[in-house]
Amino acid sequence: MGRIHVLSEAVANKIAAGEVVERPASVVKELLENALDAGSTRIKIQVEAGGKKLILITDNGCGMVRDDALLAFERHATSKIKNAEDLLSVSTLGFRGEALPSIASVSRLRLETRTPEETSGTVVDINGGKMIRVEEAGLPAGTSIAVRDLFFNIPARKKFLKSESTELSHIASLVTHYALAHPDKHFELHSATNAMLIAAPVAGHGERVYQVFGKDTLDQMLPVAAVLPLERIGLPQPPPWRREELDEQEGSRDPGELHVHGFASKPEIQKLNRNSMFVFVNGRLIRDRLIQHALIEAYRYILPPTVFPVVLLFMEMPAAEVDVNVHPSKTEVRFRQQTVIHDFVRDSVRATLMKARPVPQFTAEINARPSATPGLSPGAVLETAQANTAWRALYEPGGFSLTAPVAPPLSQRFQFEGGIAVDANAAVSLARAPASVVPDTGCATPLPDLDEEVSLGSLSTLKALGQIRNSFILAVNEDGLWIVDQHVAHERVLFERVLRQRSAQRVESQRLLMPLLIELTPAQQAVFAEISNELQLNGFEAEPFGTRTIAVKVSPAGLDASQIEHMLQELLDQFSREEQKLNIDTVRARIAASIACHAAIKVNMPLEQNKMEWLLSELAKTECPMTCPHGRPVVLRYSMKDIQRAFKRI
Ligand SMILES: Nc1ncnc2c1ncn2[C@@H]1O[C@H](COP(=O)(O)OP(=O)(O)OP(=O)(O)O)[C@@H](O)[C@H]1O
Ligand SMILES: [Mg+2]
Repeated sequence: MGRIHVLSEAVANKIAAGEVVERPASVVKELLENALDAGSTRIKIQVEAGGKKLILITDNGCGMVRDDALLAFERHATSKIKNAEDLLSVSTLGFRGEALPSIASVSRLRLETRTPEETSGTVVDINGGKMIRVEEAGLPAGTSIAVRDLFFNIPARKKFLKSESTELSHIASLVTHYALAHPDKHFELHSATNAMLIAAPVAGHGERVYQVFGKDTLDQMLPVAAVLPLERIGLPQPPPWRREELDEQEGSRDPGELHVHGFASKPEIQKLNRNSMFVFVNGRLIRDRLIQHALIEAYRYILPPTVFPVVLLFMEMPAAEVDVNVHPSKTEVRFRQQTVIHDFVRDSVRATLMKARPVPQFTAEINARPSATPGLSPGAVLETAQANTAWRALYEPGGFSLTAPVAPPLSQRFQFEGGIAVDANAAVSLARAPASVVPDTGCATPLPDLDEEVSLGSLSTLKALGQIRNSFILAVNEDGLWIVDQHVAHERVLFERVLRQRSAQRVESQRLLMPLLIELTPAQQAVFAEISNELQLNGFEAEPFGTRTIAVKVSPAGLDASQIEHMLQELLDQFSREEQKLNIDTVRARIAASIACHAAIKVNMPLEQNKMEWLLSELAKTECPMTCPHGRPVVLRYSMKDIQRAFKRI
């Protein structure tokens, strides 16, 4: 007799639940998405015990007639797609027909629903996947689903749930971010007797950020907005015999547009992990490596390599451009034109950062450090809603890490996690980054000016006064007192120049009087072989000299012979420690950064007046004068307001 049998529906549902329902927040996500798909404009969520005891979600959407209310709990029952072709252009958040049966198989669930056209509605009770009651009842239009005792019948899963406050924080973060993605809808989240979020409909995403997090948070973010007309439709290639026919159809079809908008944090905001980058594609919250990579690229050489920005990015594109059917919990997608999308996101965010060139502020909070806590702090709404301390931001690797922020004490102003606040009259600025992030802790990390926005364009009006300890240039203009780190300022100037010359293939170089012999370790030799071509394009001429030695004959202009060996050794070591395969852009930028760093004016070096002025004017011309290629700040400003405040004039 054969050994294979088909599993029962009940077992199949539990297996699906294993993929779809990981924790209370995943139940909230599925129910929230169903409510949005049902066209609701008001969604209210109530939870008890971090969602472990109860999740109740009520919407004013289209509701279900009795037959649909029963069918909804069958596996693969959905109203959202009909055939396989529909999968190529899913415009709803759900489409698998799995969420409700999965959730119902691992909880005690009650559904109450009525369509606006009917006079009475339907109540359905299901316990651990078993339907125990179906009744007609007088109900408001819309749908309400109560999920109690999650995993009551799977103790092993229940054991894996975290504390109530952790689970609640995941739910809070999830609801907050969905509220951010849908500013035109009313969202409420209540836990026990606390209102954690109440967000009435507003006109746009900016207003929603303001409504949920407060003004200061909005001030820390730069708005991103860009549109790309797509050149072609990214659907998979049809079989050869259908191409001609489809080409004709496609010729008449508009490939549509890619819209990218949202908010990207100013460079002062630094997070220790990637969990504060939230990306929505057609209203769906996703975790996507491609987009994360594009965002990190956008901040390259603006943020230090080990810290990350806060980003809230909404992408809208024709449904045919994105395959949503690649992950059971629908948190991953596959773009059909990956490179186009990656590059456009990178360039749009980068352009925003370049355009804003926000000025670092001199005054600082003493304990400011890059923070590991993801997300943004909720502000106004929480305050008015008397949120309790259950909001705890937590990062859990592997989880659906949509974690929630900490509620500030009522008296405290709104701020990002990690604390960005201005201490009114303190002219102190301490390194925000730990030593491992910014190796040279003599360099201060700035804080943003919360009072006045000053563009680094005003650098060009600076008048140099002198140096502090032959290392920092003091300068003034109408906007206040400025301190410029002479080494990193020159490094930024040279870095951009090397990159520019390299791309124009016009690198200035110098012939050494005597070839410089450098001995390499085997690891360095391997890297040298790999990057020697790029080194040559950057002005080096070096060739093997015996088995373990290279002879450098020509080097980039500005590098002293004494620095060349150190620079090359350091560069080769850096690359040899790299685990990933090197891409050409990284190699190019690292070489440029290394040349710039070694050729730049050092600290402890006296500068003549005209040299200081030259440096300030060159810095003003750079694309990104706010940070050095390693992400450290170049200038700090002590604003007029701070000066007046410190002298108690205001
Ligand atoms: N809040 C709601 N209001 C109206 N109809 C709903 C609601 N929730 C679920 N439904 C109906 O029940 C069906 C099944 O829901 P379910 O979440 O299981 O599947 P789905 O949303 O179609 O796909 P997925 O499994 O990807 O979420 C939906 O297709 C929808 O027609
Ligand atoms: Mg669904």
